[in-house]
Amino acid sequence: MLSVENVSSGYGETIIVNGVSISVNQGEIVVIIGPNGCGKSTLLKTIFGLIKPASGRIFFGDEDINGLKPFELVGKGIGFVAQTDNVFPSLSVMENLEMGGYICKNPDFQGIFDIFPILREKKKVKASSLSGGERQMLAIARALMTQPEMLLLDEPSAGLSPKMVEVLMGKIKEIKERGSSVLLVEQNAKSALRIADRGYILVMGKKMYEGRACEMLDHKEIGKLYLGKKEVTGT
Ligand SMILES: Nc1ncnc2c1ncn2[C@@H]1O[C@H](COP(=O)(O)OP(=O)(O)OP(=O)(O)O)[C@@H](O)[C@H]1O
Ligand SMILES: [Mg+2]
Repeated sequence: MLSVENVSSGYGETIIVNGVSISVNQGEIVVIIGPNGCGKSTLLKTIFGLIKPASGRIFFGDEDINGLKPFELVGKGIGFVAQTDNVFPSLSVMENLEMGGYICKNPDFQGIFDIFPILREKKKVKASSLSGGERQMLAIARALMTQPEMLLLDEPSAGLSPKMVEVLMGKIKEIKERGSSVLLVEQNAKSALRIADRGYILVMGKKMYEGRACEMLDHKEIGKLYLGKKEVTGT
């Protein structure tokens, strides 16, 4: 469904993402993990047309989407939630959702409130008064207003309590079950891999590993390096 082929991109002359190929099939949650500054956000921004790749190709379905603008990609069924500044703080929950759905003739508020009942309760509350978790839910809900087939999420669980991380992961799984495929960048790697089908590890702009999420959770080296697992030593 989404296919990134040998893409390099960065800022000005500086190449950050270096010859990366990844794919997301219909109905999958695919997670990208990797250390701070390895280029995860740069890769998502490149897919969403915010950065033009220096080389490589990006397909959505059969269509080469390389060079298309973000609003054109939204029209084609791609949604994006940025890592920071992803809601309008001075607007209410409802106004944020309306902004997200401005290109939709029949926005599905009901469906979104079914996934995030708390947003129904807090419809009139300013986004700046929401908790961190509620704000991330609003950011995701805003992107869902255009009913994307493919949702790109950049660290939605950053800064949340462990309990809230699990709640949010449950919501992302629900979004998949309702028919959107998800490409998820996460620091909370273990929690993300538990809901994911497949995963990639990015290190210094290069793809270092790809595999099934369940295998990555059990992988000794990956556990030690990226999932915060202690090495078990026999006595
Ligand atoms: N707008 C920018 N201009 C120049 N360099 C940038 C810009 N944004 C990011 N970078 C650099 O690109 C590199 C990769 O950044 P990126 O934000 O893609 O990493 P990341 O994997 O998302 O990190 P994190 O886990 O901290 O979010 C970093 O060295 C960063 O300093
Ligand atoms: Mg990032």
